[in-house]
Amino acid sequence: MLNIILLGPPGAGKGTQAARLQAERGMIQLSTGDMLREAVAAGTPVGLKAKAIMERGELVSDAIVSALIGERLDAAADQGAIFDGFPRTKAQAEALDLLLTERGRRLDHVIELVVDEDELVKRIVGRFSCARCGTGYHDTFRPTKVAGVCDVCGSTEFKRRKDDNEATVRTRMAEYRAKTQPILPFYEARGLVRRVDGMAAIETVAAEIDAILDGTV
Ligand code: AP5
Repeated sequence: MLNIILLGPPGAGKGTQAARLQAERGMIQLSTGDMLREAVAAGTPVGLKAKAIMERGELVSDAIVSALIGERLDAAADQGAIFDGFPRTKAQAEALDLLLTERGRRLDHVIELVVDEDELVKRIVGRFSCARCGTGYHDTFRPTKVAGVCDVCGSTEFKRRKDDNEATVRTRMAEYRAKTQPILPFYEARGLVRRVDGMAAIETVAAEIDAILDGTV
């Protein structure tokens, strides 16, 4: 059972690859961004705290996101976990170590998606998802096969994220450089970091990640 972290700035492709791995391998995608958006939509106490912070593109507190991950790990009967957008700070990385150890799990890989930030802005502002089943698309890079109809469930309703505008994306990238990139040495010292070119086509990125998970590279 593999436990991996996908690391990279906003728009690097973490969610795209995590959703694919979940569908193909029975691993569970643990996205703190998705969990927080669900909490905001449901108006829970966590959601009420997180809403304005997320709309500014800043980071929600370490305690909140670490608790969310712990709850989901306990609820899951999975074949491994993909941490998507977590950890994002040194404190979260330390919390994850503890959460895994307490559950008899260990971290196998930290996969960094290496990307060009200016290109990412284009990726993010073109992103949308199916309002019914959540499948992710992009105006240019991953359109629906039939315009306006979800490939997976046939819904004609789609949504765009509130924080997917250029100004907020720049703040999210600055947060990534200031708080998340500095955790890489923590994992490098343990020999866990693998780098993948996140600017390649989605299928190429997928093949590179699969090779790491299958131990063929
Ligand atoms: P979160 O939801 O985690 O957002 P993010 O990290 O900013 O990442 P994104 O979801 O924007 O990008 P992604 O890498 O998943 O890219 P995707 O696959 O969608 O966090 C949102 C907010 O929640 C944060 O700002 C913060 O406030 C809060 N938060 C979340 N976690 C937190 C934590 N741990 N601590 C504190 N606060 C937290 O791809 C983007 C687009 O590009 C898609 O349209 C896709 O189709 C396309 N695409 C993907 N790969 C490729 C490719 N190879 N080539 C061409 N197009 C591609």
